[in-house]
Amino acid sequence: MNPSGGLFWHWHAWRHQAQWRATCADIAQWLDQMPPAKDASCELVIVGASAGWMVPSAWLQGFQTVTTYDLDRWAAPMFRLRHGAALRASRTDLQCKTADALGDLDAVLHAHPRALVLFDNVLGQLRFHTPSVEEASRRIETITTRMHGRRWGSVHDAFSGRTQSHISGRASNASVPAMQQSVQPPAPQQAQGAARPVALGRFSRQLHAQGEWLDHLTDQVFPAGTRVHHIAWPYSPGYCHWLQAGWINP
Ligand SMILES: C[S@@+](CC[C@H](N)C(=O)[O-])C[C@H]1O[C@@H](n2cnc3c(N)ncnc32)[C@H](O)[C@@H]1O
Repeated sequence: MNPSGGLFWHWHAWRHQAQWRATCADIAQWLDQMPPAKDASCELVIVGASAGWMVPSAWLQGFQTVTTYDLDRWAAPMFRLRHGAALRASRTDLQCKTADALGDLDAVLHAHPRALVLFDNVLGQLRFHTPSVEEASRRIETITTRMHGRRWGSVHDAFSGRTQSHISGRASNASVPAMQQSVQPPAPQQAQGAARPVALGRFSRQLHAQGEWLDHLTDQVFPAGTRVHHIAWPYSPGYCHWLQAGWINP
């Protein structure tokens, strides 16, 4: 059983497309800010792509080659179903692979030495794929260290939890807080529990969080100085995720 993907994920994502529209628009805006390639390479690798439920075809069409990786055997056919026609129209070469791209990250990077790598809502799921919180944090650190010198980005869960139900639901996209930005502080400052920037305090209030939220262990994914986008994702009625997204350009 795949704890972060598979048929349940596809069904849930398909069913909530209308409620996720504002979140997908924020993600699309962030994707458009990807760092430019220093050479002529126009290749994208997506790790944890699933069917690409939250990535617009129009953005993918800007690449000459798109390679997706996911553990889920349904991901490849579903990705082709959602984006295949658009990518054929733009003559983008699409390769969809079923593989453990995080466990075998070295091989993935070796196979695509010049590609832009997008971790697509996958790093925040590692705690569900790993026996302990400590092990999950270690794996995330190993992955981000391994990405040193590469052009890459990630959108991932930072926190998730219950909300007042009015921020989810079909009619409520207007009440989803607007995307906000901050700069990733140096690690020791975070460890000492330094106050979050004022804008982020406001963002968490706008999410109308109820009770304790789950920490997805991603606070150290981005190096200090990275511009981080904060995006509200009304996952289901009464339950919201706080996504963070950033690009790293070596
Ligand atoms: C929350 S889903 C997001 C899917 C996708 N980005 C989308 O928006 O439709 C997380 C995905 O990561 C995949 N995943 C988790 N661990 C993985 C790994 N080690 N290698 C490749 N994919 C992985 C899961 O199978 C799942 O499809």
